[in-house]
Amino acid sequence: MDLDNIKVKSTYTDYESVLDGLTEEERQEYFMDKCVEIVKAKSEALGRPYTFSVQTFGCQMNSHDSEKIIGILNRIGMVEAEDEKADLIVFNTCTVRENANTKVYGHLGALKKLKENGTVDMIAICGCMMQQEDLVEYIRTKYRFVDLMFGTFNFYKLAELLYRRFTGKEKQIVEVLKSPEKSVERLPQKRKYSFKSGVNIMYGCNNFCTYCIVPYVRGRERSRTPEDILDEVKSLRDEGVIEIMLLGQNVNSYGINFMDESEIISNNPDYGFPELLSDVCKIDGIERVRFMTSHPKDLSDKLIEVMKNEPKICRQLHLPVQCGSTKLLQKMNRHYTKDQYLNLVDKIRKEIPDISLSTDIMIGFPGETEEDIQDTMDVIRHSQYDQVFTFIYSIRTGTPAASMEQLPAEIVNERFQRVLDLVHEVTAKSSGRFEGTVADVLVEEMNDHLDGYVTGRMSNNILVHFPGDSSMIGTIQSVFLREAKGFYYLGEIND
Ligand code: 5AD
Ligand code: SF4
Repeated sequence: MDLDNIKVKSTYTDYESVLDGLTEEERQEYFMDKCVEIVKAKSEALGRPYTFSVQTFGCQMNSHDSEKIIGILNRIGMVEAEDEKADLIVFNTCTVRENANTKVYGHLGALKKLKENGTVDMIAICGCMMQQEDLVEYIRTKYRFVDLMFGTFNFYKLAELLYRRFTGKEKQIVEVLKSPEKSVERLPQKRKYSFKSGVNIMYGCNNFCTYCIVPYVRGRERSRTPEDILDEVKSLRDEGVIEIMLLGQNVNSYGINFMDESEIISNNPDYGFPELLSDVCKIDGIERVRFMTSHPKDLSDKLIEVMKNEPKICRQLHLPVQCGSTKLLQKMNRHYTKDQYLNLVDKIRKEIPDISLSTDIMIGFPGETEEDIQDTMDVIRHSQYDQVFTFIYSIRTGTPAASMEQLPAEIVNERFQRVLDLVHEVTAKSSGRFEGTVADVLVEEMNDHLDGYVTGRMSNNILVHFPGDSSMIGTIQSVFLREAKGFYYLGEIND
């Protein structure tokens, strides 16, 4: 069925005059209401709900944006499809490495026929790939059947863009902003778990690591005001959330540039991330607080102190090192040396012995030598990580490292494999260290593979499976960790 033929009475432009003087939130509410009518008509024509599927690539930030996108789509009456086949398919893209882009092209290629024969009604692409002009142009021309393209700064306008596409004459709508125009926070949100939620505390990044595209696609660093963040946490608490994950590209520089709408309004040297973290922990009903990501150069003693003394802060720290060589770290513009990083790890381990550390490692950065790899392996051995994310350096157009001399792929692949082997060895050694102890576990869901078991996470984010039932979901249980199984533990309720 060609859903384009369903008549809707008015077109987008007829409504422009009604919108004068509305705030952005009111404007978007208006378009959500308008979309409700259209989705209803489409569902009636189909004789079933109009479905959507949101496919998310990349980091926590994107997953959190997707929860808001899903919130909007639910609000306008669409129903989430059980699988990836749906009337509306949204790709929330990542562009941090080339293989993230390649995956999206693969999906798009597979959808061409389904779009042309009407099985799929509409395709939308948003996220970080859309903040690169050349990629937008490429998709526009190569995949002409894509209906909507929008970026990281205006995804809150999804209902408005859909309305334009549903009612107007444009076959393809592209709307990407180069920088944030407005900050629109109060969006409907569909959380994956009712009892835990991410909360953005800041957007963008000012660090310009020489390999990284993020500052170009997510913009300059801007922190939300503490009032705004604490209000959001309180309303999440009122909805039953007990675990909060504070999100930012570099949470340790929270508060350097506060933001109101798009303007930077103040700079308060006395209120930074440790203060915010303490204030979030003071909110009654919030039982656990996590955060992501910490840049090693900005992790202060004050933060370690707050973490040490506040039991609500989870015993988990993601501390991306990228590589262990001081020379390469300088070329990467990371602003710390190998020794400074190792000292930081030692200090954290001394103050918070039960901490679980994880990191990101990049292999194959331009100019990397065998000696640099040895430094990286030293850091991995010394830091005793619980989890290591290893990446092959991927050239990103427009970044300083893109114009440096690149290494041959064979050398990089061989080094990558060697580092990976070491990572497996180190994580295997550290993974069993909680066996025989008792831990608090926040139960997330029934276990898919073990009958009568539930699955949850310890404060340090490690998974635990133990016998239980659905009434435990969303509660914190005291669990005896009977057996270490590598990446997870098998346990039993500790009574
Ligand atoms: N190539 C490979 N990995 C990258 N990362 C960021 N940019 C690149 C790139 N160009 C990795 C870093 C970062 C993580 C989120 O992604 O390790 O910490
Ligand atoms: Fe990219 Fe560096 Fe910013 Fe992380 S800190 S997002 S690696 S520029």
